[in-house]
Amino acid sequence: MYLLEVVASAPGKVILFGEHFVVYGEPAVVMAIDKRAYALAESRKDRRIYINSKNLGISGVFVGESFEAKKGGREARVQLEPIRKAAQKVLNLAERKIGVSIEVRSAIPIAVGLGSSAAVITATATAVSKLLSADLSKEDIFRIAYEAERIVHGTPSGIDPAISTYGGTLLFSQNKDFKPLEVKGDIPLVIGDTGIERSTGEQVAIVRERKKQYPSIFDPIVEAGGKISLQAVKALKTGNLQELGELMNINQALLYSVGVSNESLERFVYAARKAGALGAKLTGDGGGGCMIALSPSEKLEQVAEAIERAGGTAFIARKTSEGARVES
Ligand code: MEV
Repeated sequence: MYLLEVVASAPGKVILFGEHFVVYGEPAVVMAIDKRAYALAESRKDRRIYINSKNLGISGVFVGESFEAKKGGREARVQLEPIRKAAQKVLNLAERKIGVSIEVRSAIPIAVGLGSSAAVITATATAVSKLLSADLSKEDIFRIAYEAERIVHGTPSGIDPAISTYGGTLLFSQNKDFKPLEVKGDIPLVIGDTGIERSTGEQVAIVRERKKQYPSIFDPIVEAGGKISLQAVKALKTGNLQELGELMNINQALLYSVGVSNESLERFVYAARKAGALGAKLTGDGGGGCMIALSPSEKLEQVAEAIERAGGTAFIARKTSEGARVES
């Protein structure tokens, strides 16, 4: 008996430590947050893949290699392609000669470094897998999402699909196994959104340019980035928020030095620290996007207000252990 309709979801993330340096082989610490993307998959008798993105306001049908836009014009194809790729891969693995209709929506702010695109792709792979009774493992879902994400981000490390698939808090190293981390107590965070969208590919390219220009300066910075992540693993285990805050501040200085901070991010970081945050840094790609502020629980509200006064949109985020899951 095949299912007719499945909803699956996957979480967004914040990188606590090590973004960008992870691209050069250093470990990063990433945490899933309680904001999720959802994919509804329904089977179709024809072999078409129809995709509707509620948030982006675009939709279209893939028939083999051709694309017919329904909403959003020809450009919609580029944004829908990774979702198509994930769905197609699952269809191929399941060896089912049918089509699927997919509707995606996300409660994760888009294109600001919180992993919304990976969460949408991971939720899609999970929903289609369940719809087709393909019985794919988490490892399979991660691989499929990673391959699909490469279309959006060029040479991503894979950190976003990994955390969306597995949830929790991970120590992630490119080409190595990622390891779930033990975290004592709460990690109370405020996320400050600059509202400036950018592409991960472009931000990664800025850093690559710095590396090319100043290799002997760049290499020790990257190495220090990795050491911060490893020190943070110990502080997470003992729940030492004071130390985690200090490590965030050092990490922010390194990210600034490789060219991925910007004026808004710096303003929010300082505003958060002044309002009582234990530490603050950009998270994800930088150049806009979001920052995080680690704050004592009783100061979360005032830190959020300070970020808003500095011109950002702020919200409080909680960690979640739940990775990709079928909802119904
Ligand atoms: C993006 O969330 C994190 C970066 O390190 C890029 C990547 O790891 O793919 C900037």
